[in-house]
Formats: sequence, C-alpha cells, structure tokens
Amino acid sequence: MAPDTVTMDEIVSLCKRRGFVFPSSEIYGGLGSSYDYGHYGVLLKTNVKSRWWEAMLQERDDIVALDSAIIQHPRTWQASGHLSGFTDPMVDCRTCKLRFRADHIEQGHCGRKPSRKPGETSDCNLTEARDFNLMFETTVGPVREDGSTVYLRPETAQGIFLNFKNYLQTSRKKPPFGIAQIGKSFRNEITPGNFVFRMREFEQMEMEFFVPPAEAERWFEHWTEQRMNWYTELGIRPDHLKLRPHERDELSHYSSATSDIEYLFPIGWSELEGIANRGDFDLRAHAEHSGQKLEYIDTASGERYVPHVIEPAAGADRALLAFLIDAYDEDEIDGEKRTVLRLHPRLAPVKVAVLPLVRKDGQPELAAEIHRALRGSVQSEYDEGGAIGRRYRRQDEIGTPWAVTVDHQSLEDRTVTLRDRDSLAQERIAIDALGEEIGRRLRAPWRSPKLND
Ligand code: GAP
Repeated sequence: MAPDTVTMDEIVSLCKRRGFVFPSSEIYGGLGSSYDYGHYGVLLKTNVKSRWWEAMLQERDDIVALDSAIIQHPRTWQASGHLSGFTDPMVDCRTCKLRFRADHIEQGHCGRKPSRKPGETSDCNLTEARDFNLMFETTVGPVREDGSTVYLRPETAQGIFLNFKNYLQTSRKKPPFGIAQIGKSFRNEITPGNFVFRMREFEQMEMEFFVPPAEAERWFEHWTEQRMNWYTELGIRPDHLKLRPHERDELSHYSSATSDIEYLFPIGWSELEGIANRGDFDLRAHAEHSGQKLEYIDTASGERYVPHVIEPAAGADRALLAFLIDAYDEDEIDGEKRTVLRLHPRLAPVKVAVLPLVRKDGQPELAAEIHRALRGSVQSEYDEGGAIGRRYRRQDEIGTPWAVTVDHQSLEDRTVTLRDRDSLAQERIAIDALGEEIGRRLRAPWRSPKLND
C-alpha cells in the first residue's frame, strides 16, 4: 500500500486556505463541529452528489428519486425505533463539565491540562452512564404544548418508507425497485469531531431497495459490490478501501446483516458507508403504527408480501473528505514544492482554468472569450492575476485537471496550450477544438496517478 502522509490538519488547512470548508459561525468563535462549505466545497460536494444520482438514476431503470421533509410526523420515530433506541451511553464529568461517550472513554480527552483520559486521575468525577437520545427536538406551531414536539430527522431513510405506498401507486415500479434520496440529517452527537467526518448536521445519500424476501441476500451482495465500485471508479485507491461485515452484536435493531465500506482516513480505518439488509422491519413497523397496509400485491398472480429492504447509506460529507484525502499529493516542480489535489476530473470543482500568459497584447481578451465559450458546457475559471506559475499552483491545489494558456502565438494562429495537472504535459491545440477535447477527456476512464507511485 502506498504510504499516505497527509494529516487531517493538512486537509483542514487546505480546505480553509482554498475556500472549500470553513468552521461555521467563526466570527462568534465557532460552533463545535459545524462547518460551512465555501465555493469550491459546494462545487465538489455537488459533483459527489451528482455522481451518486447518476449511479442511482441515470445508469439504471429500477430506482426513482425522492426529496422528503426534514420534519416528519413524530410517530415516525416511534415506529422506526429511534425514540427508544437511537441513543448513545454518556457520562458527564462533574469536575471538568465535559461529556463523553461511555463506550469511547478510551479516546476521550479530559477538559483539564495536562489532558488525560476521562476518569484517569482522582480529580475526575464521572457520573454513571446514561442513555442520551441523539435526535434534535423542536416544536411546531406558535405554542409549546403537548403534542407539538417534533424531531429533525436523524436519517433520510424514514422519509422513503413513509412514501412507499405513494410510489407503488404512482411510479409504475414493482419490487425489485428502489427509492433514492439525498438530504440533510441531524444528530446531536456526544463526541463529534475529525472535521466533516462526524458532525451534528450532515448530508446523507440513501437508497432503499425493495425486494421479494427470497431475493434479499442476492441484492445485498449486488449493492455491496456496486457501492465499492462507485468509490474506486471515482478514483479512490482500492487498497485504501475495505469491506467490514458487522459482528452480530454490532447490528442495528433493524438489521439482519450490515457491511461497512471503510476508508483509511488519517484517523485510521473508519466507516464511509453502510450497506444493510433491513428485512421487513421498517414497512411492518410503519404499517403497525399507521394502520395502513404497506405491502406489494401482484395484480396478475394475486401474490402479496411485505418487501425486504437493502439499504446503501452513504454520507456526502464523509465521501467528500475521503475523495479529498485520497487526492491530496505533494511533489516538486523545478525544485519548488507543489500541493496538488489529484481528484477524478468528474469530481474536480473546476474542470478548466483559462489563463492569459501576460496581461497585455490582447491576451486577456482572447482568454476571456475562450472562458465564456467553455463555461457553457463545463465549470471554467478565468484568472489573469499574478505570475503564471503561481496561477498553475493555485489551480493544482483546488484540483483543476486542465489549464488553457493563451500566449503571443495564440493571437497569431488561434492555438493555445492545454496543460495536464498530473502529467504536466502541455499540448498545443486549436481553440476551436478545445471544447470537444475537454469533453472527451472528461468522459474517458481515469486512474489515480497515485496508484503508479
Ligand atoms: N439509514 C441508515 C443510516 O443512517 P448510518 O450508518 O447511521 O446509517 C449512514 O449513516 C452514513 O451517514 C454513514 O456511513 C456516514 O457516511 C454518514 N454519517 C452518519 N453520521 C454522520 C455524522 N455525524 N457526520 C457525518 N456523516 C455521518
């Protein structure tokens, strides 16, 4: 395995320096574990989500899309088991006033200096472990009264189960078929941290695939393979990705089998996505609590059954973090250190930078004209400020795969140079052929140059 030396601090620093991700509410001192995505972060995350939608909707015919409400009827969470079971055991320290997850106490840091593990010194005064529900509560309506309590969804999945009947009636799909959704979820994590890896507000990309019960195992295998391939096809190095089946005692209350796709983050192997066989737990639970029949009836044969569900559940923020870490690289050009994000071109926030070599002789005008023509089909950026080397470095650091440079020859023969971020090759190409060439390169299969190291 190629050694990876990037630390989480280096990623955090690059993200802030280049405007990918900022700590939230920074002018007020920040709000722990909340982050705001800046311009390049928005573009990158949008690309991650678009690639997911493509894999779910465009490349198949058996999945449909949903965008459900964040605040659902509160009985949703009774039926799903979240009200009673979505808890972590926590302990408080009466001395340093911090709160720790009882099952992660070994990784905790006491609030006093020098920092120790909670409970390590005689001054620590820990409470007994208590269950702490991770759902955020709020109220609907102008007055706080009985029955007005609602919850911010802790997963997008339940919105899909609530709509199962609507989709049977309107989507002209029958099992096996899936409903996919991307959206924000909220968890009052006791110990959030590690940048966007664990936040209290994050985005999930979840798909519930409804199948005849006898086919559940086969579809579980299918989705596990599909999801592993999605990450590697988008450039994650296969030796930094692994599948970890859950032990029986780790399984969630709804699951009969779960495998985590884990990525080798700088904090060690950690969950990127979970693929679960949820059986018929959710549809049966919602049928019982709502009094509605949630089953599939085959009109031809009269056969009826409650479908089983296979769920690939990914985090958009965690996927973005893994793509950033996997892409991070450093090399040297002419004796000068370069930081470069070797992102898959289809994930890169900006696909092409258009740069006049100098700010005179008609070069800026021609470069701006090329930029305007390209931006109709790809995310293009025009930059005329500073030495050309510095402009290339800046684009390398945000992962722009190609740079178009306009020079004095461009004014004579309408050709430009097309520079490749990874190979540094510079090709002379006619301005008229640029759009097609960039489109061709974007569609071509891609392999991380870090795999050749
Ligand atoms: N519906 C099943 C479900 O929600 P999960 O393993 O709790 O399963 C799925 O969440 C994915 O959501 C995780 O693999 C992770 O990528 C992401 N995720 C979960 N909690 C998160 C958090 N606090 N911050 C960022 N991402 C999170």
